[in-house]
Amino acid sequence: MKTIYLKRLINTVTVSLLLLLPLAEVFAETDGDWRRGRIYYRTTCTSCHKVMTGAPISPSSRTIAQWTAYLDADRHDLAGNTNPSVKYFVSRAYRETVKKHNRVAAKLIDLKDETLLQDIRAFLIHGAKDSDTPTRCR
Ligand code: HEC
Repeated sequence: MKTIYLKRLINTVTVSLLLLLPLAEVFAETDGDWRRGRIYYRTTCTSCHKVMTGAPISPSSRTIAQWTAYLDADRHDLAGNTNPSVKYFVSRAYRETVKKHNRVAAKLIDLKDETLLQDIRAFLIHGAKDSDTPTRCR
């Protein structure tokens, strides 16, 4: 009697864990790697902002809510001198166009677009005005 009960319990626990596994993956992906985001932001986003606008755009220039809204809206440079989608600049398509002279873009070439976007999001939120670690770019 007891062993049957135990076996059933083990089965239930195993099945529950298996069901939870994909969920854990989803959480890992939405977390984002802010350090990798920082490297890409500095080498790709900031380097262009400096050239085209004369100044970097720091994470600390906006609040967490403002960055979240900005990325969700997926607008960029409304004056229209570059691409109107901020997601475009994390895409593989964009990385392909700059990989020759951008070693970071070349190194991250196989990263999924959504993963890199999550990394950028994590970096901007990590360094936002109202975060614990407001970050300025030089
Ligand atoms: C090819 C050059 C270029 C690249 C690459 C680039 N940007 Fe920009 N970005 C601009 C220009 C130009 C503006 C407009 C600045 C202005 O109007 O003063 C801008 C503006 C912005 C702004 C200010 C709000 C707005 O939309 O005008 C944010 C935020 C921004 N970029 C984020 C990013 C992020 C994040 C990346 C990288 C994933 C990125 N940009 C990559 C050129 C670029």
